[in-house]
Amino acid sequence: MYEAIQIVHSYWAYLVVLIVTLATINALAGFFTKREYAPKDFRVSLFALIVTHIQLLIGIIIFFVSPMVVWFSGTHKMGEIMKDATLRLYNVEHPTVMILTIVFITMGYSKHKKKLTSTPKFKTLAIFYTVAWVLMLSRIPWAQWF
Ligand code: HEM
Repeated sequence: MYEAIQIVHSYWAYLVVLIVTLATINALAGFFTKREYAPKDFRVSLFALIVTHIQLLIGIIIFFVSPMVVWFSGTHKMGEIMKDATLRLYNVEHPTVMILTIVFITMGYSKHKKKLTSTPKFKTLAIFYTVAWVLMLSRIPWAQWF
């Protein structure tokens, strides 16, 4: 069970990083070139929303089964988790920051849909998706992933 979920979370992350990066670049390019918002812009931003939400569900499951998460094993005190960089990353920073990433993607997506013209749509996406992208890249366990 754990191994399977770990593999899915690890491989799905490639898709998440790729799509969120593309959607962010697309939003920034659309805003700075002042072009018309097109159906493909809607699709790429929606795709970023979908892949991150799927990763959220997988992440929540892995949080409860991973041996890297020690909250439920009773083996570590809060202070010990916070003092150890690896334990802090998996138990606190990665889950919290990734949930924040997904909140920013969701807010950007739903706010941009309410804007009626192209530049405000791109501006909203560009701001929220860029913040989400930076947050996401800041707390990926790069060393363990590759
Ligand atoms: C944008 C969303 C997310 C991305 C891109 C992402 C990416 C990753 C990556 C690349 C790894 C390392 C995989 C490996 O070592 O092969 C990982 C591990 C992990 N992630 Fe996420 N993650 C996301 C969301 C979440 C969420 C929301 C949670 C929990 C609520 C979570 C919990 C975990 C845990 C517990 C591990 C350690 C798994 C283990 O090796 O035992 N992740 N994540």
